[in-house]
Amino acid sequence: MRFHVITIFPNIFDSYLNESIIGRAIKNKHISVVFYNPRDFIKDKNKNGYKPVDDKPYSGGPGMVMKAEPIILAVEKAISKIKNKKNKILTINFIPSAEKFTTDFAKTISKKYTDIIFICGRYEGIDARVDKILKTKKVSIGDYVLTGGELPAMILIDCISRQIPGVLGKYESLEEERISSSEVYTRPEALKHKNKNYKVPEILLSGNHKEIEAWKIKAN
Ligand code: ADE
Repeated sequence: MRFHVITIFPNIFDSYLNESIIGRAIKNKHISVVFYNPRDFIKDKNKNGYKPVDDKPYSGGPGMVMKAEPIILAVEKAISKIKNKKNKILTINFIPSAEKFTTDFAKTISKKYTDIIFICGRYEGIDARVDKILKTKKVSIGDYVLTGGELPAMILIDCISRQIPGVLGKYESLEEERISSSEVYTRPEALKHKNKNYKVPEILLSGNHKEIEAWKIKAN
């Protein structure tokens, strides 16, 4: 799976993509992440020597809107780099009010597509013509408003990647298949905190797998 991220802040991704399971998935070439900065697709500098990716909204109002052209050029550049024309490409734009992202959606698209392009908007959003021209899939990660699409893109990269064979280690994959519980414990068996003992539930020490599975279902 190749992820192509359209963002004016690519550095935001650095530490997350270099650590742990996602870092290992990139190293082992199970996934790749490439960045395209819309600012690189603006030819003219303004009078302050700056290449603006945003402009005032038509109809007025506060805030700025990301211009369509640099985003479209960045996406087209990403598509031009996808060599095999048989590849299946999905372009996602992040909108707080759109359909919610779920693990089921991650499972479906991990099987259906080879390349996913994320458009990370900033400011008040992006010019609506981007969605019309690129026929994007609009996705929300929850009922709250963030400052941009970079965190949603990282969340989708994480969730989709762990559906790709080989990304999770053998042990982690097995964990995924088992009935898991929202309540988990590790050593010590009794944890002393401010003169009180907090014990691991007896059932988890019993070795009775049937009863443990039943307890986990109940604990969820
Ligand atoms: N952009 C800002 N907030 C968002 C959210 N909750 N989901 C997706 N995109 C967003």
